[in-house]
Amino acid sequence: MQVLNIGSLNIDLVYRVPHIVQPGETLSAFSVSRHAGGKGLNQSVALARAGVKVSHAGVIGQDGIFLKELLEKEDVDCSNITVMQDHPTGCAIIQVADDGENSIILLHGTNYCITPEIIRDALKKIPEKSIVLLQNEISALKECIAIASEMNMRIFFNPSPMDQTITDLPLEAIDTFLVNEYESSMLKKLAGKRIANCNILTTFGADGAEYCGQDGEIIRIPAVKVGNAVDTTGAGDTFTGYFVASLIRGKTIEDALQTAAAAAAIAVTRNGAAEAIPYMNEVKDLLH
Ligand code: RIB
Repeated sequence: MQVLNIGSLNIDLVYRVPHIVQPGETLSAFSVSRHAGGKGLNQSVALARAGVKVSHAGVIGQDGIFLKELLEKEDVDCSNITVMQDHPTGCAIIQVADDGENSIILLHGTNYCITPEIIRDALKKIPEKSIVLLQNEISALKECIAIASEMNMRIFFNPSPMDQTITDLPLEAIDTFLVNEYESSMLKKLAGKRIANCNILTTFGADGAEYCGQDGEIIRIPAVKVGNAVDTTGAGDTFTGYFVASLIRGKTIEDALQTAAAAAAIAVTRNGAAEAIPYMNEVKDLLH
């Protein structure tokens, strides 16, 4: 089985700060650095490092060529990535505090230049019933879900960052939602019965994760602890990528949850988003 990730590609500007800046406060940062990021890109890297074949569809500007090069190095198929001449790539201003917590300001940039045509072209290249992975950081998401559903794909949706706009989406067509605790309660509040036939995977940080199948099956696992968190940015993306990859590799839901939790636990002990994602051999070492 193959996975097509139609997702964001961002330039992350990461400011290390003593604490997240408060309204009205001016705060001096310890450092600033530029990284590859975007929930889409991070999840493609996680899928690839977990050992599955992934194709990434998205749009970047000239300033984001290094993001495509990074994905190519990870062996991600980039034939569905469009490069625009006159538009800036998506960008995130990220504060990472001493306790590892983060806050993010997003500029959509070329992530909002994704069109139904780009989506249709990418979907045409994969067989029916392939997994299509989506996040909430791109344009044409409504059309994307509708077209993927028409083409009989299995849609996995990480509706992050969560906002009201998700109510406009054809949520009934989603196979599996991947959410954190806050997103899970928002999703249930905003979508109500529309998602009654969908699977929902919720991560609870230090309290583990839970999978609720549409058939009523519930599987819960505890969190994995590796060391102190230095940067939680991208931990959810690592979990998502590893969970989906494990399913593709034919693992049970429980195994997939455990593998994903171990991968995310390693990721938070490292700086950055994409570069913090571990390789499968590191995750296996932790699990055995
Ligand atoms: O999930 C982390 C990601 O969110 C960052 O890499 C940033 O680009 C934002 O999209």
